[in-house]
Amino acid sequence: MLGSRIIVGVTGGIAAYKAAALCSQLVKRGAEVRVVMTEAATRFITPLTFQSITKHPVAVDTFDEHDPSVIQHIHLADWADVFVVAPATADVIAKAACGLADDMLTTTLLATRAPVIVAPAMNVHMLANPIVQENIRRLRERGFVFVDPGEGPLACGYTGKGRLAEPDEIVEVVAAVLQRKKDLEGKRVLVTAGATREPFDPVRVLSNRSTGKMGYAVAEAARDRGAEVTLIAGPGELPVPPGVQLVRVETALEMLNAVLDCLPSADILIKAAAVSDYRPASVSPSKVKKSDGPLVVELVRNPDILLEVAKRRRHDQVIVGFAAETDDVERHAREKLEKKSLDYIVANDVSKPGAGFGSDTNVVTIFGRDGTVLSLPPMAKRQVAERLLDLVAGAGRVGAVGGP
Ligand code: PMT
Repeated sequence: MLGSRIIVGVTGGIAAYKAAALCSQLVKRGAEVRVVMTEAATRFITPLTFQSITKHPVAVDTFDEHDPSVIQHIHLADWADVFVVAPATADVIAKAACGLADDMLTTTLLATRAPVIVAPAMNVHMLANPIVQENIRRLRERGFVFVDPGEGPLACGYTGKGRLAEPDEIVEVVAAVLQRKKDLEGKRVLVTAGATREPFDPVRVLSNRSTGKMGYAVAEAARDRGAEVTLIAGPGELPVPPGVQLVRVETALEMLNAVLDCLPSADILIKAAAVSDYRPASVSPSKVKKSDGPLVVELVRNPDILLEVAKRRRHDQVIVGFAAETDDVERHAREKLEKKSLDYIVANDVSKPGAGFGSDTNVVTIFGRDGTVLSLPPMAKRQVAERLLDLVAGAGRVGAVGGP
């Protein structure tokens, strides 16, 4: 933790006093700590307490721009290696889930690209409220790390879940996130996501149901672990992940060209996109008029991008494919692992509920050329991405396997 730059965001709850112990432990472990408080938090504990512990001024007011050379909340947001919100009230969780930014803490939080750790503390019924749970779920899917509250007597008189996790538990999570963040530093990760769209005439296309959620989750997770990420994505509605370079493509041929352009500088390629295997043989320049009879459209094969990659890849690159299967998942996935010279293949049985296209979760088994078989239970796509990157970034993996 020595030299790590940590923002502790303190919001207005009775557990705000425990944030002082948290800051003290972080400082003792060698971290540089800056505290940002909400106005409500200052009613529970004074900024002077945190200033004395961290030896730095505490930020409360967005408009208190004491250093004219910087915009304070952006400066802090960029400075941080990790941002911890402890205690996090239902209010700040809701604001973060909606992207609201109406004070120093929430503007800094919205602007940061550092990993965010949230330690909630609130009344047991507030915590159980489905709206709060929905907000927590949304933030988890976006990669926020939650330190679950503990159970016991609460300040409000109830007994139950809602107590802020103990400072030493939060410190351990901070240490783990800092550690995790570094494992792809200096690596260039190329990710493909979403469906390709093959035009048939100016208004119609041949496509599939991929939304890009899986690939975007991989891109965001790799970014948060320190990688320089390029995301080659088909058309879609998902917001562009901050800090990721997006290359928008439409057709499989465009995706092929984009992948081959970026391949030489990539250390890792992860192909979560669902690429159309066929395209219409010709594209009509004007809208094809309907007639009473059937319409026959001739389709031709698109190139297999991973096969093209296999011909050109370097031995020190790690190549990962995905396989969307509906039956005999393991056999089909293993065939693709071999045929496409992959290091890993992530097989999802898209016939299972909560797996595959469009869902926020996935159910996958990851097969490795090195014999790895990792079957994961249903989990958020972001968590699938993390488990995949654990393998890819694992000791000595990058550059250690594969090659044509
Ligand atoms: O985007 P979401 O809605 O979140 O859905 C996620 C997903 C189901 C699309 C994703 O998890 C997934 O499984 N992606 C791969 C789907 C697929 O096309 O599988 P495939 O078995 O057809 O292809 C195997 C691999 O070859 C894939 O890595 C694919 O990108 C690649 N491929 C396929 C065809 C082609 N012409 N070129 C390729 O490179």
